[in-house]
Amino acid sequence: MQTMAGRVAVVTGAASGIGRALALGFGGQGANVVLADVEEEPLDAAAAEVAALGVAALPVRTDVTDAESVEALAAATLERFGTVHMLCNNAGVGGGGLIKNQQLVDWKWVIDVSLWGVIHGLQSFLPHLIEAEESHVMSTASVAGLVSGPGLGPYNAAKYGVVAIMETLHHEMARDPDAYVGVSVLCPGVVRTNIVTAQRNRPEHLRRQRSSGAAASLTPEQRADARRRNQAVADALAERGMDPADVAAKVIEAMYNRRFWVLSHLEHLEEIDHRNGQLSRLENPTLLRSFTDGE
Ligand SMILES: NC(=O)c1ccc[n+]([C@@H]2O[C@H](COP(=O)([O-])OP(=O)(O)OC[C@H]3O[C@@H](n4cnc5c(N)ncnc54)[C@H](O)[C@@H]3O)[C@@H](O)[C@H]2O)c1
Repeated sequence: MQTMAGRVAVVTGAASGIGRALALGFGGQGANVVLADVEEEPLDAAAAEVAALGVAALPVRTDVTDAESVEALAAATLERFGTVHMLCNNAGVGGGGLIKNQQLVDWKWVIDVSLWGVIHGLQSFLPHLIEAEESHVMSTASVAGLVSGPGLGPYNAAKYGVVAIMETLHHEMARDPDAYVGVSVLCPGVVRTNIVTAQRNRPEHLRRQRSSGAAASLTPEQRADARRRNQAVADALAERGMDPADVAAKVIEAMYNRRFWVLSHLEHLEEIDHRNGQLSRLENPTLLRSFTDGE
């Protein structure tokens, strides 16, 4: 992007964490911001913070798992501002647990939000981004979209999918003579957000069932293991999580410079190189160190 001042940015998952920081970051650059989230109260609070920066802020309650809801978000954006220049498909949820203990609802919930949310965003906004004189789309994946640590099966699957979609889109936009759309993917490490309580937004019909399926009832040991994993993530976030504002600054810098890869924690490059090196030699995968968020 040459400039963000006076432009229009849309951010999903904008009520909390990285999304809220992105919305504030765009506002700080003078952009008008459309904030989308399922959580209404924090969404309105975040929009008020953005508006306090002296730009227009439009909160739109949106469920990214629902194509119609995201379509309504695009309609609300166009009705208010007539155009859109920056899109951040950022909403995402994660839950830990070994694949052998997952229920179908665990896969469905995580993939619905973290992968289908991105697909819905592209479906509803890409034509408008292509129409704009200059635009940029970013989707939030994770280091879990580049290395598959244990204990995060659905999350890894969703985030690998997000990286694949954005890489594909990058190639397509670069070859499209009618489009001037920059493309980025954000792959953060540990960031100090509310992701550890992501279950707060889990719909009732996708909650774990006690009485059906292979992993229906966890043993006391499995439950203790799940609690231990959750606590490990909470501790990691609190102790060494990056400030979401620093992550947002890296995204904004990447948008100005049309850079694709946005990695907040460069120390993970070693793990990524290790994985890719093993692949190039057709060696079986090993991890350099266990991921705090997975094991
Ligand atoms: N925090 C980390 O360490 C970390 C690391 C890697 C990737 N990420 C990714 O960053 C993104 C943002 O997460 P965060 O860490 O800021 O967590 P967060 O929980 O603080 O924020 C996520 C926001 O998404 C919203 N959301 C959840 N379900 C939604 C839905 N169906 N529709 C619309 N909004 C919904 C939540 O209400 C919340 O406001 C996610 O994609 C996450 O996977 C986070």
